[in-house]
Amino acid sequence: MPGRRPLVFGNWKMNGLGQDTRALSDRLKAFGPITRGTLGVFPPFTQLQAVAEKLRGSGIVVGAQDCHEAANGAYTGSVSAAMVADTGATAVILGHSERRHGLGESDALVNAKAKSALDAGLALLVICIGETESEYLDKQTLAVLDRQVEGSIPADIDPDRLVVAYEPVWAIGTGRTPSREEIASVHAHLRGRLAAHLKGDGRSVAIQYGGSVKGANAPVILGIADVDGALVGGASLDPVDFAKIFTAGGGSFAAPGS
Ligand code: 13P
Repeated sequence: MPGRRPLVFGNWKMNGLGQDTRALSDRLKAFGPITRGTLGVFPPFTQLQAVAEKLRGSGIVVGAQDCHEAANGAYTGSVSAAMVADTGATAVILGHSERRHGLGESDALVNAKAKSALDAGLALLVICIGETESEYLDKQTLAVLDRQVEGSIPADIDPDRLVVAYEPVWAIGTGRTPSREEIASVHAHLRGRLAAHLKGDGRSVAIQYGGSVKGANAPVILGIADVDGALVGGASLDPVDFAKIFTAGGGSFAAPGS
């Protein structure tokens, strides 16, 4: 689906009270309708419904940063995929490294969450994978990614409902990124790996790079073959820089620069 590329998504993480997320949503909406590419934002749960309502009709995808693997039940503090869908959000990020490594989420758990999100009818699942710094230094990157693809992504998922975000853990929030050649070779490898793993056309899956993407490095990163977009943390909280990343990747708005 070339028309939906680039896919540039903002993971707002644990940032934003009501007034901040309303202002950010208004700023993004003011860039005008999207004429090429897919822009998405992933606010904290508390702001999900408000942002989904504010951005309704804008074409900007709104999603959650996680969901529980069960449909409902005695899981104090958790949010199910159906609850995410009920807010008007249509997407979810799963297996972010801050949950894998910070909260001990396994590939099997991410896989169960993915199934639950599919069952709840969410249109888009952003499944994150990535190696730690020690795995990178040990040259284990591809082996780690293969294991995560195998374990975290249901093989029967419709490729149009999947985005894979390659986020090296050591590049998140650090200002460091792999070289152009490293990103190119990892993404090319993932393209083949997804083709082998998925029952559907795995080669058509959108693969985002994430980790210290900013307006300044976006032209290089988004210009790499097999990089179909970016998953952006810090820079997504600045609407101007976020829009810059989107347009650097070939995305466009009806009212550029507004
Ligand atoms: P930064 O862009 O802040 O490095 O975060 C990347 C990320 O974790 C997006 O999910």
